[in-house]
Amino acid sequence: MSSNQRFFLLITLLPFTILSFFSSTSLAVDFCVADLNGYQTPSGYVCKNPANVTADDFVFSGLITGANTSNINKAAATPATVQQFPGLNGLNLAAARADFAPGGAIPLHTHPYSSEMIYVVEGSVTAGFVSGITSNKVYVKKLKKGEIMVFPQGLVHFQANTGSENAVVFATFGNADPGVQMINAALFGNDFSSFLVEKTTNIDQAEVRKLKKLLGGSG
Ligand SMILES: *[C@@H]1O[C@H](CO)[C@@H](O)[C@H](O)[C@H]1NC(C)=O
Ligand SMILES: *[C@@H]1O[C@H](CO)[C@@H](O)[C@H](O)[C@H]1NC(C)=O
Repeated sequence: MSSNQRFFLLITLLPFTILSFFSSTSLAVDFCVADLNGYQTPSGYVCKNPANVTADDFVFSGLITGANTSNINKAAATPATVQQFPGLNGLNLAAARADFAPGGAIPLHTHPYSSEMIYVVEGSVTAGFVSGITSNKVYVKKLKKGEIMVFPQGLVHFQANTGSENAVVFATFGNADPGVQMINAALFGNDFSSFLVEKTTNIDQAEVRKLKKLLGGSG
């Protein structure tokens, strides 16, 4: 779609968006299953025609098994956000599953739009986050099976399997689209110039280039 077409679409749809915003205060709807082919607003996707919604729209089977942990992190996350599970649209909820081989870790990352709560269902993990207040204090805890921990919205956090068996963690979010930004990928997994990464992180350029090679970055 060209930018002209996009602009035209925006102008055409804007009155309806405003109308639906106002009508939502008087008309309660039970649900708004996402039409992922429709446009996205700050409050979610447009709704799929309710006549076409079935019970299957409210069920997601993608977390029954975990993703393959044979990778550089020895860990893998499987998301169940609105993009995979359209029934979550507008409900301020999402989930994920993380699987860890011994020694595996989900690298430092943030969810800019949501807090997260994790629940250890198998093995144990060491999890933590870094305070956003100027102290940069780190809050870390080794969690055993059955324990839960919360990571406040937007703060950098991680989970690592420091045990000797596999670990499985389920996560829930307070937003159907929590967003995710991996710190390592943001620095070394793209074309952010090595010169600027060095300048903005104090990591020497040789190390930056090494990490870019490892994480698929260039520049
Ligand atoms: C949705 O339902 C309507 C009638 O209820 C039907 O005409 C239409 O083809 C359906 N759309 C899809 C995508 O199934
Ligand atoms: C996981 O991925 C590795 C490497 O790609 C592969 O050798 C292995 O068969 C996969 N395991 C499963 C269970 O799919």
